Amino acid sequence: MKVVMLGTGYVGLVTGTCFADSGNDVTCVDINQVKVDKLNAGQIPIYEPGLEEMVRRNVDAKRLHFTTDPATCVPDADCVFIAVGTPQSDDGAADLTYVFSAARGVAPLLREDAIVVTKSTVPVGTNRRVFEILKEETGRDVHVASNPEFLKEGCAIDDFVKPDRVVVGVMTPEISKRLHELYRPFLRTEHPFLVMGLESAEMTKYVANCMLATKISFINEMANLCERVGADINEVRKGIGHDQRIGFSFLFPGVGYGGSCFPKDVRAMIAVGAQRGFHTQILQSVDDVNVRQKEVLFSKIQKYFDGNLSGKRIAVWGLAFKPRTDDIREAPSVELITRLLDAGAEVGVHDPVAIENVKQVFGNRITYCPHHYEALDNADALAIVTEWNEYRTPDFSYVLHRMAGSAIFDGRNLFDPARMQELGFFYTGIGQGSSVHEMG
Ligand SMILES: NC(=O)c1ccc[n+]([C@@H]2O[C@H](COP(=O)([O-])OP(=O)(O)OC[C@H]3O[C@@H](n4cnc5c(N)ncnc54)[C@H](O)[C@@H]3O)[C@@H](O)[C@H]2O)c1
Repeated sequence: MKVVMLGTGYVGLVTGTCFADSGNDVTCVDINQVKVDKLNAGQIPIYEPGLEEMVRRNVDAKRLHFTTDPATCVPDADCVFIAVGTPQSDDGAADLTYVFSAARGVAPLLREDAIVVTKSTVPVGTNRRVFEILKEETGRDVHVASNPEFLKEGCAIDDFVKPDRVVVGVMTPEISKRLHELYRPFLRTEHPFLVMGLESAEMTKYVANCMLATKISFINEMANLCERVGADINEVRKGIGHDQRIGFSFLFPGVGYGGSCFPKDVRAMIAVGAQRGFHTQILQSVDDVNVRQKEVLFSKIQKYFDGNLSGKRIAVWGLAFKPRTDDIREAPSVELITRLLDAGAEVGVHDPVAIENVKQVFGNRITYCPHHYEALDNADALAIVTEWNEYRTPDFSYVLHRMAGSAIFDGRNLFDPARMQELGFFYTGIGQGSSVHEMG
């Protein structure tokens, strides 16, 4: 099949490459000339494990192409995917400018029987609006479908090639057949291909992200409460997780969710409710709790230094909003570093892959360290924000030796508080009010 992917970001590049890898002829289109030039020069503009090799393999096989000019590929395409950004606008709603402009831009180029498939996360009604735009531009009914994407950055390829489910929203069921054909290679393990109405497909993506964000804010709120009542959230987590109705997944306390999806998608759903005069009470709380959670590490550090961070040097391990990605959109690290700098602290940071993106935000206001131990030099405290594997088993005596102070503020609960105390650290995690060790 001939496939065009409009938007070559985290979603477009991964999905386009995976479709090429299953034998389709795929052209990824982007308006960003720098990105396209990089891709054509064999460079991958984002960090995603396994992607570089897969892109190279499919480019070499001449199944994957990159361009800024849709006229070179859209006229031949069976399916044209829209995978452009849908960022948050000022009032919290999803900004659909890129989606509509992408649809308008390709309309005159479309083959009579082409399907325009929206993969971007878009609120209810967007696909119907895309249908209308295409009709305005072409004078005919163009096939449209909604195909929300559920991949996770960091394991995006695996998620895409082994999806839990594929969701397709259509106006007429026949349209789904071509998409089923396209997805067939990824559904060999009998995971479902779910065909539904456009509105249900649009809602499915938001409801999924809102549910996951709710779990995170819920466990974070419980963690904060645990600290105040002398309980340990990690023990509580085990205590509840064995109940199969609750389970263990997505219930790790931390410093709040970030990334390009959860924050904006929760707010977009709140806006969808507000536009219809419906107050989404739970989602508002999920967002409020998350905003507050991003402050927790800073508050603890500030309290430890009696409110005076002036001239204190703080090392920060982990900048990406989660491990295995270089994405720092809405990352808790950015919030923490901003607060530390505003309070007069000096900041030294490490991240295995996100440094270049963080440089765009902080420039020369912080120190970038190529090794995580380097960030510790003369540090009065260490804050751990992202749980990269390489931070999990440090040489603690070496850490103490390199630091000026001995305080560790762990936003990911990587270590055992009792052991850290024995080793001579002041150590605090999230929600660890007490532990069984202290009782003993
Ligand atoms: N990042 C994720 O993990 C993820 C997961 C699932 C769904 N989504 C959703 O997928 C969509 C894309 O997300 P992303 O993270 O890949 O965004 P991104 O910002 O990484 O990439 C979007 C790309 O679209 C390009 N673009 C904008 N207008 C264009 C046009 N008219 N024609 C061609 N290209 C154009 C931009 O230059 C950019 O490169 C969003 O709606 C997002 O919510 C993202």
